[in-house]
Amino acid sequence: IIVPVILCGGSGTRLWPRSRASKPKPFLPLVGNSTLFEAALARCPANLGFAPPVVVTGQMHLDHVEQQLGPVDGAEIIVEPSARNTAAAIALAACRLPEDAVMLICPSDHHIADAQAFADAALRAADLARDGWLVSFGIEATAPETGFGYLKRGEPIEGGGYLTARFVEKPDLARAQSFLAEGGYAWNGGIFAFRVKDFLSDLAAHRPQIASTVAAAVAKGAVDGRRFHPDAETFASVESDSVDYAVMENTKRAAMVPVNMGWSDIGNWHALHEALPRDANGNSVRGNVRAELVDCRNVLIDSDGPRVSVIGLEDVIVVVDGNDVMITTVTGVQKVGKLDGAVNQ
Ligand code: GDD
Ligand code: MG
Repeated sequence: IIVPVILCGGSGTRLWPRSRASKPKPFLPLVGNSTLFEAALARCPANLGFAPPVVVTGQMHLDHVEQQLGPVDGAEIIVEPSARNTAAAIALAACRLPEDAVMLICPSDHHIADAQAFADAALRAADLARDGWLVSFGIEATAPETGFGYLKRGEPIEGGGYLTARFVEKPDLARAQSFLAEGGYAWNGGIFAFRVKDFLSDLAAHRPQIASTVAAAVAKGAVDGRRFHPDAETFASVESDSVDYAVMENTKRAAMVPVNMGWSDIGNWHALHEALPRDANGNSVRGNVRAELVDCRNVLIDSDGPRVSVIGLEDVIVVVDGNDVMITTVTGVQKVGKLDGAVNQ
């Protein structure tokens, strides 16, 4: 049995004004008709051996989670009293599960084009996790991105996968460039397979404060229907750290499965444009709206109603949402999350 642990935090301000506090990125149908959260759930169906999911989320996303999860028998929603990053979020799920269960940690804000390739990799990763490995999904690294973790592929492991010779979370640009030049590195996809007891023992070894405080918050927690509420006061004192720094950079049993599945973390408007169908000129129009593009190339229009007409532009993104209009070049997309509109919603 593999238990999908779906992580739902963050607000995705870099996709403002489409993504905003009231309807954040995981709960929007950004690519196709399903939301990213619904798609993450759908990738882990019972007929492939997946148990009902555990969703770890905050109070601010709870209504969206309840609604989009729907009535799934056996699902649990862990409601974080405060946000303490992914090491604590995963530890909460681990403390609620049997020690021999294998967790498949799934971010809820990614797009994966090839669900079959994902499922194949998940089953391989789960097999390795059952043998005690802490397994990452390795995505072919095509650019020196600094927002990702990097996995150096080591020796093959009998039965599939590779040792992770090195795990480097978010290197600076020079280091990322040297990894690409050296070769043999993959991006960490942020998807992991861990057996509960192995994750908890590594967390206890490398971040004892997080391990013991989360365990105490769970021991003092309360069940309310399918929701679980860890003790707020205890959880508030948990150190904030990501699983990548806390566990993956330090563990001595890191492994990886390379996977080619059309993965994107849709980290900005340009990445979303890349994941969308485009016409012969590279233009895309999202939403059921009228848009007119004359002499345009690689233009993305996303409007929730108003007609958008553009003449003679290249590599431009235009987003209309309610009273907000946001226009950027492709090189400007990294600054969207810092716009006043995105910050002061
Ligand atoms: N429940 C919960 N609580 N979820 C959280 C929290 C939290 O406190 N913090 C983050 N998450 C969720 C996010 O919503 C996302 O789905 C996932 O955990 C990963 O967190 P991010 O904040 O998006 O991490 P990142 O993008 O900076 O880096 C991670 O993902 C990259 C790939 O997208 C790392 O794992 C990198 O190594 C990796 O390359
Ligand atoms: Mg992310």
